[in-house]
Amino acid sequence: MVDYVERVDSNLPFLACISFMSQIGSRVEQTLEVFQGIRPAILPSLLLCDFANLQREVESLEEAGVEALHLDVMDGQFVPNLTYGMPIVESLRRVTSLKIDVHLMIQSPERFAKAFVDAGADCITFHIEAAPEPSELLAQLRSAGVAAGLAINPTTPMEALLRFVPECDLVLVMSVQAGFGGQAFNPVALERLKYLRKTFGPNLLLEVDGGINSQTIASVTSHGADLLVVGSAIFREADYCQAMTRLRCQIKPFGAGSDA
Ligand code: DX5
Ligand code: ZN
Repeated sequence: MVDYVERVDSNLPFLACISFMSQIGSRVEQTLEVFQGIRPAILPSLLLCDFANLQREVESLEEAGVEALHLDVMDGQFVPNLTYGMPIVESLRRVTSLKIDVHLMIQSPERFAKAFVDAGADCITFHIEAAPEPSELLAQLRSAGVAAGLAINPTTPMEALLRFVPECDLVLVMSVQAGFGGQAFNPVALERLKYLRKTFGPNLLLEVDGGINSQTIASVTSHGADLLVVGSAIFREADYCQAMTRLRCQIKPFGAGSDA
């Protein structure tokens, strides 16, 4: 149980402090319960969507049965691409009750993490490559009521991440090098998913991101993935309902298939 004392104003009556701490703690638990309840779940990655009609896009995704959104925040430094920041999260927060999962592909994520919490994120992952000593930020995010996790690129050795996994609510295993949608799936993610699932048990939420489509989705779920981030395999389709159905019908349970 994360210590919420640092979040509590010492002038508040003791019972109000207890109430405040339990609200914060239950917000994280509530998000995790939603994710645990919907897994394996497809999370559309808002990178290739129509930003000129964002509310309509979200409504179409909700009609297609989407249960959470993945927002790709890029700063042009940590990755050679630049996307969006807190204003997009704030705008989305106003128009949807879906869980908002923010993927920070930014240098020094501690500078902006709290701003994304305030903007309405329910879950935040940041890269181990940008925060080699992530414990403090992971604890701060949870104390602020947000589920917190680490992301790792395919080219980064797992050893960089493993000792911090017990402090994470989820781990984001990249199956492409962070920075762009539409890349080819890197199968190195499969053994990583399988290792994390076998090492840390059934409750750790495993998210996979990059090159997930109707050809690759079965392999990532059969190797243990819970949250499947999908960009081009949804947003390059005219009909999001059809795209989601095509993806869902390929999902296999953990352990299914010869190579899992
Ligand atoms: C890449 C992003 C991914 C990407 C997924 O840096 O984190 O979320 O947008 O897009 P596809 O599914 O097209 O690989
Ligand atoms: Zn992403």
